[in-house]
Amino acid sequence: MKNIGIFYWPIKGNVETVAKKIKEIYGADEVDIIDLSKAEPKHLFHYKNLILGCSTVGSESWEDATDDNVWYQFLHKMEDDKVDLNGKNLAIYGLGDQMRYPYNFVDGMERVFSHIVNHNINHIAQWPNEGLTFKESLALHDDKFRGLAIDLDNDEDEADATITKWVEMIKKEI
Ligand SMILES: Cc1cc2nc3c(=O)[nH]c(=O)nc-3n(C[C@H](O)[C@H](O)[C@H](O)COP(=O)(O)O)c2cc1C
Repeated sequence: MKNIGIFYWPIKGNVETVAKKIKEIYGADEVDIIDLSKAEPKHLFHYKNLILGCSTVGSESWEDATDDNVWYQFLHKMEDDKVDLNGKNLAIYGLGDQMRYPYNFVDGMERVFSHIVNHNINHIAQWPNEGLTFKESLALHDDKFRGLAIDLDNDEDEADATITKWVEMIKKEI
């Protein structure tokens, strides 16, 4: 059993870039990265610790999400299957663009989190609200994000340092 499974979607964009970076920083032999569109809820049980990766593309609610939204489908499958993650450590990261979408920054992270939190997880690695410029985010609670809020569109130069800091946080909490 590998230590960490990173389940992410969409593929081929910034969410995937961050998944690969986490794997590189953490150590390839400890981490698998899994395209969510090829996964089923039972695959979550292959890992002691879980990281979920998502982005915000449009500020639509789940109710308006299109059928091709893989996170929406996966989370509903988990609900149907009554998946019990039994205290597994779970961290989440979300991509967003603070300049173009300052009122909906990384909202998608909250949408995913609001489902996964119902599956008996141990939520780790919340991210402090520091160094970002935005107005509102659904994913911000008590001045902490549900997980790593990262903006590769505007802060690419800092990305490696930011991800490294988050990985250190995860290591301390698991
Ligand atoms: C049509 C569209 C809508 C977007 N809406 C939001 C948004 O509401 N909030 C936000 O923080 N970022 C928003 N973004 C920015 C993306 O989340 C950001 O570019 C992210 O890095 C995309 O990652 P991905 O290519 O892996 O999906 C939007 C991008 C696009 C193209």
